[in-house]
Amino acid sequence: MCGIVGYSGSRQAVEILIDALKRLEYRGYDSAGIAVCGKELQVYKDKGEIAKLQESLPVMKGTVGISHTRWATCGRPSKENAHPFVDCTGRFALVHNGIIENHMALRRELVARGHKFTSETDTEVLVHLLEESYKGDTHAALVETLKKVKGTYAVAVVRSGSNEVVAARKENPLVVGLGVGENFVASDVTALLNYTNKVLYVMDGESAVISPAGVRLFDESGQEVRREPSTISWTIDDAEKGGFGHFMLKEIYEEPLAIHNTLLGYLDDISDGNSIGSSRFSSVKIVACGSSFHAAMVGKYVIEALSDTPTTLELASEYRYSPGTKELPLVVLVSQSGETADTLAAAREARRRGCKTYAITNVVGSTLTREVDEVFYTRAGPEIGVAATKTYITQLVALYLLGMRMGIARGTIGPDSLRSMRSELRSMPKHVRTVLDNSSAIEEATDMLVNARDVFFIGRNINYPTVLEGALKLKEISYIHAEGYAAGELKHGPLALLDAHTPVVAACVKDHTYDKMLANVAEVAARDSPVLAIGFEDDTELNAVADRVIRIPKVSPIFSPMLITVVLQMLAYYTARRKGCPIDKPRNLAKSVTVE
Ligand code: G6P
Repeated sequence: MCGIVGYSGSRQAVEILIDALKRLEYRGYDSAGIAVCGKELQVYKDKGEIAKLQESLPVMKGTVGISHTRWATCGRPSKENAHPFVDCTGRFALVHNGIIENHMALRRELVARGHKFTSETDTEVLVHLLEESYKGDTHAALVETLKKVKGTYAVAVVRSGSNEVVAARKENPLVVGLGVGENFVASDVTALLNYTNKVLYVMDGESAVISPAGVRLFDESGQEVRREPSTISWTIDDAEKGGFGHFMLKEIYEEPLAIHNTLLGYLDDISDGNSIGSSRFSSVKIVACGSSFHAAMVGKYVIEALSDTPTTLELASEYRYSPGTKELPLVVLVSQSGETADTLAAAREARRRGCKTYAITNVVGSTLTREVDEVFYTRAGPEIGVAATKTYITQLVALYLLGMRMGIARGTIGPDSLRSMRSELRSMPKHVRTVLDNSSAIEEATDMLVNARDVFFIGRNINYPTVLEGALKLKEISYIHAEGYAAGELKHGPLALLDAHTPVVAACVKDHTYDKMLANVAEVAARDSPVLAIGFEDDTELNAVADRVIRIPKVSPIFSPMLITVVLQMLAYYTARRKGCPIDKPRNLAKSVTVE
């Protein structure tokens, strides 16, 4: 996720481009850049936050320009990889938010035709393609360029000597702002609120030409589109959160896109023989902290089920105390931030022991990525809420892909099951959306939790870690004491605590654990505990044993943690909201824990 701004008017562009960009910093903050068209095209960019760029900004005169704040997904954060990118003739500057999937093939072709690249990014192919397609009309050249790319984008371009900003979008947000004698384009309305509250939403596949005189919108086939402007009544604070009350909720709603982006490219390259995951290891050890540890636990079930490879888990803070083994496992380190001190220490220790290391992280260029042999990037975009939500879901995606890759390498997954798993994973964004559409039922279910002092979460097998994560979410943001338990363990202690005031949340998917889960739910109900069950949409038995049932789309049980987790995240969110808790910044907790 990155932020884009474009301006065309009569004022000096630079101040507007920087001020508006700062409003988008929540979308990315590892590097930033700006291009202004005056007498000639001037470009300035750097690694780091926008304030740092601003401090060293040279004088840039001109009334047209674009700017960008980056959250790296392809190529580490650096000055070279920062946007805008300029073509070989120095006429065009371009900024992009999204992922160009076929960039490697395009880059090879462009290099063969003499183009010189200055960065490691996927984006840079766009500006070189634009240069080749240009025959006097930048809009036509951009439309031509975008026909050649596979992937997702919001893109904005300026050309030296022109007062137009040309923009287009596919699966990434883009909005046009309408002023008087000046017009704007941006990733979202947050950037524009200081200047206008009249906007035109650019739809998927559409493009726009913005000049001081006006804005023209075009559909995919190049036909001009007429659209009535919308009036925005949000404050800047509302807008940063996209109209959601908290970043946490916004980030939960971003999960379908985060899953989609994390799968992009990887599902097709699943049998890529160059990846560590495609090598045969006699065992795997997954190491992580916090929510990432729960994702790791799901990963253990997935890797063992799909590839028959014995997999063990270690909390990162405990890894150093575990004995090394003669047979070296593949060590998988899971960390959304890539900066957690204990996980970094574990990565170093694993390498010292001679193990191959594989990191799953959301932050390109984070310290962890420099400490391991191979990195898989989840592409969730920046997560501002302290409680992990979309990064957790995409960690699961990464672990499914790793399990599938290992299964292919070990011959435990045949073509048919690979095909059906691919198709299920591709459907996950849609299923998560269905869960989100059921938010009112989840919100109502908080009646059962909001006044409780203690809540138990129970599940079995692959949904045992899911309930651990559900309990962690509830305790960290609502301050209600919550414990996740393997359902079979209830009778070894917690049952003593159950009564009519202690609700139990039960993950009950119809798999080989179902009958036993129902028996556990009955045990709980017999102690008068209110039961909130989560089950498949076609389940007809749960209503008889549970006080309330939340339903999720029917998927193969191995993928059910993704959907149950979304329910549990929302349950925690709505409970905390009813209690008036500071959801995005829970007391005493930090997003990234850099002490051991
Ligand atoms: C902190 C965060 C958690 C996160 C944990 C591990 O405690 O609040 O949300 O799960 O650190 O962080 P990591 O970046 O390594 O996944």
